[in-house]
Amino acid sequence: MSAPVVPARTPRAILDTSDFARDMAACLGSRPHEISPKYFYDERGSRLFDRICELPEYYVTRTELGIFQRDIARMADAIGPDAEVIEFGAGSLTKARLLLRALQRPRRYVAVDISAEHLQAATASLQQEFPEVEIIPVVGDFTNMAGLPALPRPRPGNRRIGFFPGSTLGNLGLGDARRFLSDASTLLAGGGLLIGIDLVKLPAVLHSAYNDAAGVTAAFNRNLLARANRELGTDFDVEAYAHHAFYHPGLQRIEMHLVCMTAQRVRLGEREFAIRAGDSLHTENSQKYTLDGFRSLAAASGFSPGAVWCDPQQLFSVHWLVSDHQRASTSPHHLENP
Ligand code: AVI
Repeated sequence: MSAPVVPARTPRAILDTSDFARDMAACLGSRPHEISPKYFYDERGSRLFDRICELPEYYVTRTELGIFQRDIARMADAIGPDAEVIEFGAGSLTKARLLLRALQRPRRYVAVDISAEHLQAATASLQQEFPEVEIIPVVGDFTNMAGLPALPRPRPGNRRIGFFPGSTLGNLGLGDARRFLSDASTLLAGGGLLIGIDLVKLPAVLHSAYNDAAGVTAAFNRNLLARANRELGTDFDVEAYAHHAFYHPGLQRIEMHLVCMTAQRVRLGEREFAIRAGDSLHTENSQKYTLDGFRSLAAASGFSPGAVWCDPQQLFSVHWLVSDHQRASTSPHHLENP
């Protein structure tokens, strides 16, 4: 079966250089300096993130994988047969593979990701393993569902299932997380969402996960400025920035910052920005949830929370959420927007 790339509304890069330049100018032009973590993931950033996932301190990836390996049959039972899976952000596809192998008659797998190259490579290999499943890569930014290209309407008798592992929802911030869930519940009308969520735990465990001894997370954090130097022509003195990651128990989130240790002036196009020694540039939040806290968020955002699977230490959780929306019975359109 062939695997067409559904074209995005803007060609190729959704997060193109002009978005990055605009957001970096806004970040440097206001205080506190803040920018979206989506800019971490250029080619080097994605490689550094892959290394983070292998670190002994970063329990997230292997703990979630362990839960999938142990409970995937029960997850497949909850989902039911004839699923059309939509994965939000196509990672290594290891978990998608596990899910497709466990599901009864999976019909379609749609991977939505901002990187066309990554999608093409990943979905081509998946298509080989699952020739009977229609595999569709979609280039798009799933954090803006209204801007996604039209997705194929589910066939009669099939159900749309969202798949969002990795606790990436935690990087959206609470308002955006709620918006994402409520858009997803509309998109997944008649089906549900299988989602990985990182849990509140001992601050010391969280601290070391984001402050690894090998310094990979620090390099990942600083790469955002190195990327700006490469792509936007800024002249950040990257080595003058210290990686600073800490757990805020009141807000139940890890915050990642880059703290400038020496005053510098940074050029961006025609503009120049004065950075003071001690200034912080806030690069990422990673929200942690309690089981009840996440279930309440899901219930307030258009889902009925179902089964939850955790590891024995309750470090991480995988939730099955049923969309509160019914699927419209007929539509003259083959394609639909969320
Ligand atoms: C992708 N995301 C779930 C990671 C996290 O844990 O919030 C990103 C990350 N940042 C630093 N380490 C990993």
